[in-house]
Amino acid sequence: MSRAAYDDIAGWYDEALRSGPLGRFQDLAISIVLDLVGEVEGRRVCDLACGQGILSRRLARLGAVVTGVDISRGMLDLARRYERDEPQGVDYVRGDARSLPQIHDEAFEGLVCNLALMDIPDLEAALRTVARVLRPGGWFVFSITHPCFPTPSLGWTSRVDDELEPEIPDYFAEGFWRRDNPEGVRGKVGSYHRTMGTYVNALARAGLSIEHLDEPRATGDLAERIPGYLEVPPFLVARCKRDLALVET
Ligand SMILES: C[S@@+](CC[C@H](N)C(=O)[O-])C[C@H]1O[C@@H](n2cnc3c(N)ncnc32)[C@H](O)[C@@H]1O
Repeated sequence: MSRAAYDDIAGWYDEALRSGPLGRFQDLAISIVLDLVGEVEGRRVCDLACGQGILSRRLARLGAVVTGVDISRGMLDLARRYERDEPQGVDYVRGDARSLPQIHDEAFEGLVCNLALMDIPDLEAALRTVARVLRPGGWFVFSITHPCFPTPSLGWTSRVDDELEPEIPDYFAEGFWRRDNPEGVRGKVGSYHRTMGTYVNALARAGLSIEHLDEPRATGDLAERIPGYLEVPPFLVARCKRDLALVET
């Protein structure tokens, strides 16, 4: 595995989670992910693309036996440092979600992937991995930036009352894009835009059935900063179930 995109911004990302606006996005996404995850006491759970381990630690505090996986050495160094400072029994493994030979089949009862599928170039391969490492009937909860709204040309126009209204062109422009703002995470590392249909069809092909979808409105600080997210959801959060038998592809 070569150098990963997040190696270059690991320290910045960690700081932005703790004190920047990114932290508010994360708080909202993680609270909904945890609602959809439910009871995890004693369960074997994988946090795929775990980054610096923010969600791994939350799950471990709830009693889960957590393995965090990420491709970025820089992000894993931070995750392991948090684990050293406050041990919670999280095991961190370096691996690529597109194949993950380090993890055996049906290793987990549940798997989370928070705000990261948009960072992975091959969605189909990543979802095949998810299905493979989950036991039959196991759950998969993920959050992504909403596929319909923060599209490659998302902009915000001011209305007469000074509120911001989203402009949403280029929904069909799937592929890699990078936001103009170099101060934000998507300006720094870019993102893979996919339509809703691409996500839903890839889940179905991987043997992951959608049980519940959540499209939250922004709240609190995030809503104050970006009022447009009171009108369109910043995220899509889903709970899926691994089919009992997987179809060989
Ligand atoms: C936006 S960060 C989210 C991190 C974490 N889930 C969180 O909630 O803070 C995306 C993460 O995906 C990881 N990532 C990108 N491609 C990956 C891949 N192919 N396999 C595993 N992790 C990957 C990055 O290294 C980065 O840590």
